[in-house]
Amino acid sequence: MTETPAASSLGRIQHVTVLGAGTMGSQIAMVSALAGFSTTCVDIAAEPLERARQELWRRVDRDVEKGRRTAEDVAAAKERLSFSTDRDAVVAHTDLVIEAAVENLEVKREIFASMDQVAPEHTILTTNSSNIVSSKVADATGRPEKVCNMHFFNPALVMQAVEVVPNGQTSAQTVATVKALAEAFGKTVVELKREIPGFVANRMVAALRKEALDLLDAGVADVESIDAAAKAALNHPMGPFELMDLVGIDVAYLIRQAEYEQTGDEASLPHPLLKAKYESGDYGRKTGKGWYTYSED
Ligand SMILES: NC(=O)c1ccc[n+]([C@@H]2O[C@H](COP(=O)([O-])OP(=O)(O)OC[C@H]3O[C@@H](n4cnc5c(N)ncnc54)[C@H](O)[C@@H]3O)[C@@H](O)[C@H]2O)c1
Repeated sequence: MTETPAASSLGRIQHVTVLGAGTMGSQIAMVSALAGFSTTCVDIAAEPLERARQELWRRVDRDVEKGRRTAEDVAAAKERLSFSTDRDAVVAHTDLVIEAAVENLEVKREIFASMDQVAPEHTILTTNSSNIVSSKVADATGRPEKVCNMHFFNPALVMQAVEVVPNGQTSAQTVATVKALAEAFGKTVVELKREIPGFVANRMVAALRKEALDLLDAGVADVESIDAAAKAALNHPMGPFELMDLVGIDVAYLIRQAEYEQTGDEASLPHPLLKAKYESGDYGRKTGKGWYTYSED
C-alpha cells in the first residue's frame, strides 16, 4: 500500500515572521513579501532593521531599473513587508516563523521557548540555521511536531535551493506545508528524510573542500591548478579555494568547529591547512588575503 502524502496547510499561511534582519533574514523577508505573503522582519534593535530596509529597497529598486522585476511587484512587496522590534506582538499573530537570528544555540533555544508561549497553536516554527539541527530547539517548545529546519542559501534573493529538514518529531503536515511555502517562494525544495549536521549541499561542499585541501597538503597540485580543475573539468563556477576566500576562511573554519561540537567526530575538525590559514588571520576577500591576494578594486 502506498502512503497518501500529507496535505499541506499552506492555505493557513497568511503572515510570515522572519527573526533576524542580518545577511539572511533581511533577504528571506523580501523573498516572502515578493511571493505575496504579508511579512514582518523582527530584530532586537531598530538599527539593523533600518539598515536591512535601506539595503533591500536599494536592491529591489535596482532590479526594477534593470528590468528584472516590475515596479508594481516591487511596490506591492514593500507594502507587504514591515519591520519590528516587538517579537512577542508579531509572533502572537503569525502563521509561520523563519528564525534567522545569530548562530548561537542558547539564543535560539530562548527564542523558540518564548515564541512557543505566544504563537497561535497552529503556527509553524522553523530555523534557517546552517549547523543547528532543529531537534536542538524543538525540545524547548511544546510543539516539536511543528518545528523543522528551513535552510536558505546566501544570497537568499538569488539562490534557488531551500533545504527542508525534519527532526524526529516533525509531522508530515509540517514538512508538506514548509515545502509548499518554499515552492510558493519560487524556490527549489531539497527535502531531507532526516536531520544531519550540514544537511546535503554544505556536506557536499565540505567533502570537495576536504579533498582539495588534502591534494594541496600532499603536494599533488597548487591552489590555482586545483581551482582550475573544478572550473574547467567539473564546470563549477568557482574553485574550492576561491569559494573559501569568498565565504570567509573564518566562516569555513567555524563551520567545521561547530560540526565537531555536535558530532564529537574528529573527522569533522577543520583541516590543518584551514586551521593554519584561520590562525594567520587571512580570512579571504574580506581581509584582502586568503588563498589568493586581492587588490582594493
Ligand atoms: N550567512 C550565511 O551565508 C548563511 C547561510 C545560510 C544560513 N545561515 C544561518 O542564518 C542565521 C543567520 O545568519 P546571518 O549570516 O544572517 O547572521 P547575521 O549576523 O548577519 O544576522 C543575525 C541577526 O540576528 C539578530 N539577532 C540576534 N539575536 C536576535 C534575537 N534574539 N531575535 C531576533 N534577532 C536577533 C542580529 O541583531 C542580526 O541582525 C544563522 O543561523 C546561520 O547559520 C547563514
